Amino acid sequence: MAKTLIITGGAGFIGSHVVRLFVNKYPDYHIVNLDALTYAGNLENLTDIEKAPNYTFVKADITNAAEITDVFSKYNPDGIIHLAAESHVDRSITDPNAFIITNVMGTANLLNAAIALWKNDFTGKRFYHVSTDEVYGSLGDTGLFLETTPYDPQSPYSASKAGSDHLVRAYGNTYKMPFVITNCSNNYGPNQFPEKLIPLFINNICNKKPLPVYGDGKYTRDWLYVIDHARAIDTVYHDGRNGETYNIGGFNEWQNIELIRLLCQTMDRKLNRAPGESEQLITYIRDRPGHDRRYAIDANKINKELGWKPSVTFEEGLDKTVDWYLANEKWLNDVTSGNYQHYYSSQYANR
Ligand code: NAD
Ligand code: DAU
Repeated sequence: MAKTLIITGGAGFIGSHVVRLFVNKYPDYHIVNLDALTYAGNLENLTDIEKAPNYTFVKADITNAAEITDVFSKYNPDGIIHLAAESHVDRSITDPNAFIITNVMGTANLLNAAIALWKNDFTGKRFYHVSTDEVYGSLGDTGLFLETTPYDPQSPYSASKAGSDHLVRAYGNTYKMPFVITNCSNNYGPNQFPEKLIPLFINNICNKKPLPVYGDGKYTRDWLYVIDHARAIDTVYHDGRNGETYNIGGFNEWQNIELIRLLCQTMDRKLNRAPGESEQLITYIRDRPGHDRRYAIDANKINKELGWKPSVTFEEGLDKTVDWYLANEKWLNDVTSGNYQHYYSSQYANR
């Protein structure tokens, strides 16, 4: 094999698309998917490639330093692409420590294991940290996040991701470890766990359940199809300059309520329901505490320097996403049984 890469969080939403892309595109790379299989990790996301000769799954927890050191010495990776994280803002509000432990300490454990393994010989080595635009805080009505925008995280989730970004840069500076960081906007697409806006609303529309819109619904997010994020990660891993940060986004801002209306119209069409039927499920509920008003990414650097741009429009991506959920009812039913029901009622009851 030309290279061994450890991809952390490869059983999750974005990670599974990154693993699939690398396994299929680089048959001469050994792709090791390191994942603890939390509620968000699901090997059903990867059944199509699980038997590929260049793919290995390892169940391991990034918060367990000894376990990570063992995996690193067993597989001797040339590169790490780090996606494993607690990723849902609402959960970070009810249980911040889980985010600090996984996102900050877990990242530190990976960095320490990489330093120990590579022992100052960094030839051909790279640590790629996958981060979020939320580290930059919240925008007003105008402006875009640049790579130089000062960090101003506002939730326990985004503060823990900011902490992990700082650690990666500090290790790069102190130990001269080659690294890249990307900060991406909101992803959507197949295999997203239905706690996030789009898959949660698709599931509720299917089941004719209320659509819980936080606050006035006029919060704005910048949406990117997950496969385009995976393509960007491939580009930056191979061609990005050491020590650099690249923002990733689709120049695709939507107010939540406008996006929800488009989703309702798309679902009514696909489910042969009367136009307007799903919109009647919209229910305004108490806002998320500390809710960031607007995110929007300036993705010019990755476009100009590395030639990456999104491959699908939002309407195409949303269409493909809805089709995927409608065709994968078993996947959706499996992940929404059991603990999901407890999560849902504690998150949404009495709001
Ligand atoms: P996800 O919650 O769907 O998946 C996270 C994965 O990490 C799961 O497979 C889970 O089992 C694994 N994991 C969690 N804790 C672990 C631990 N202690 N040890 C090993 N594995 C563990 O998340 P996602 O939405 O796919 O996000 C992936 C990464 O991308 C995260 O770092 C997130 O901050 C970042 N990101 C996400 C978005 C988005 O819109 N979803 C946007 C920008 C950046
Ligand atoms: O910007 C990148 C980030 O996007 C990632 O780093 C996070 O991992 C990812 O979860 C996402 O964070 P958001 O908080 O923006 O995503 P979420 O899907 O939770 O919410 C999107 C918007 O929809 C936000 O304004 C809150 C609102 N919302 C969300 C849910 C779950 C609702 O109105 N109702 C809901 O039930």
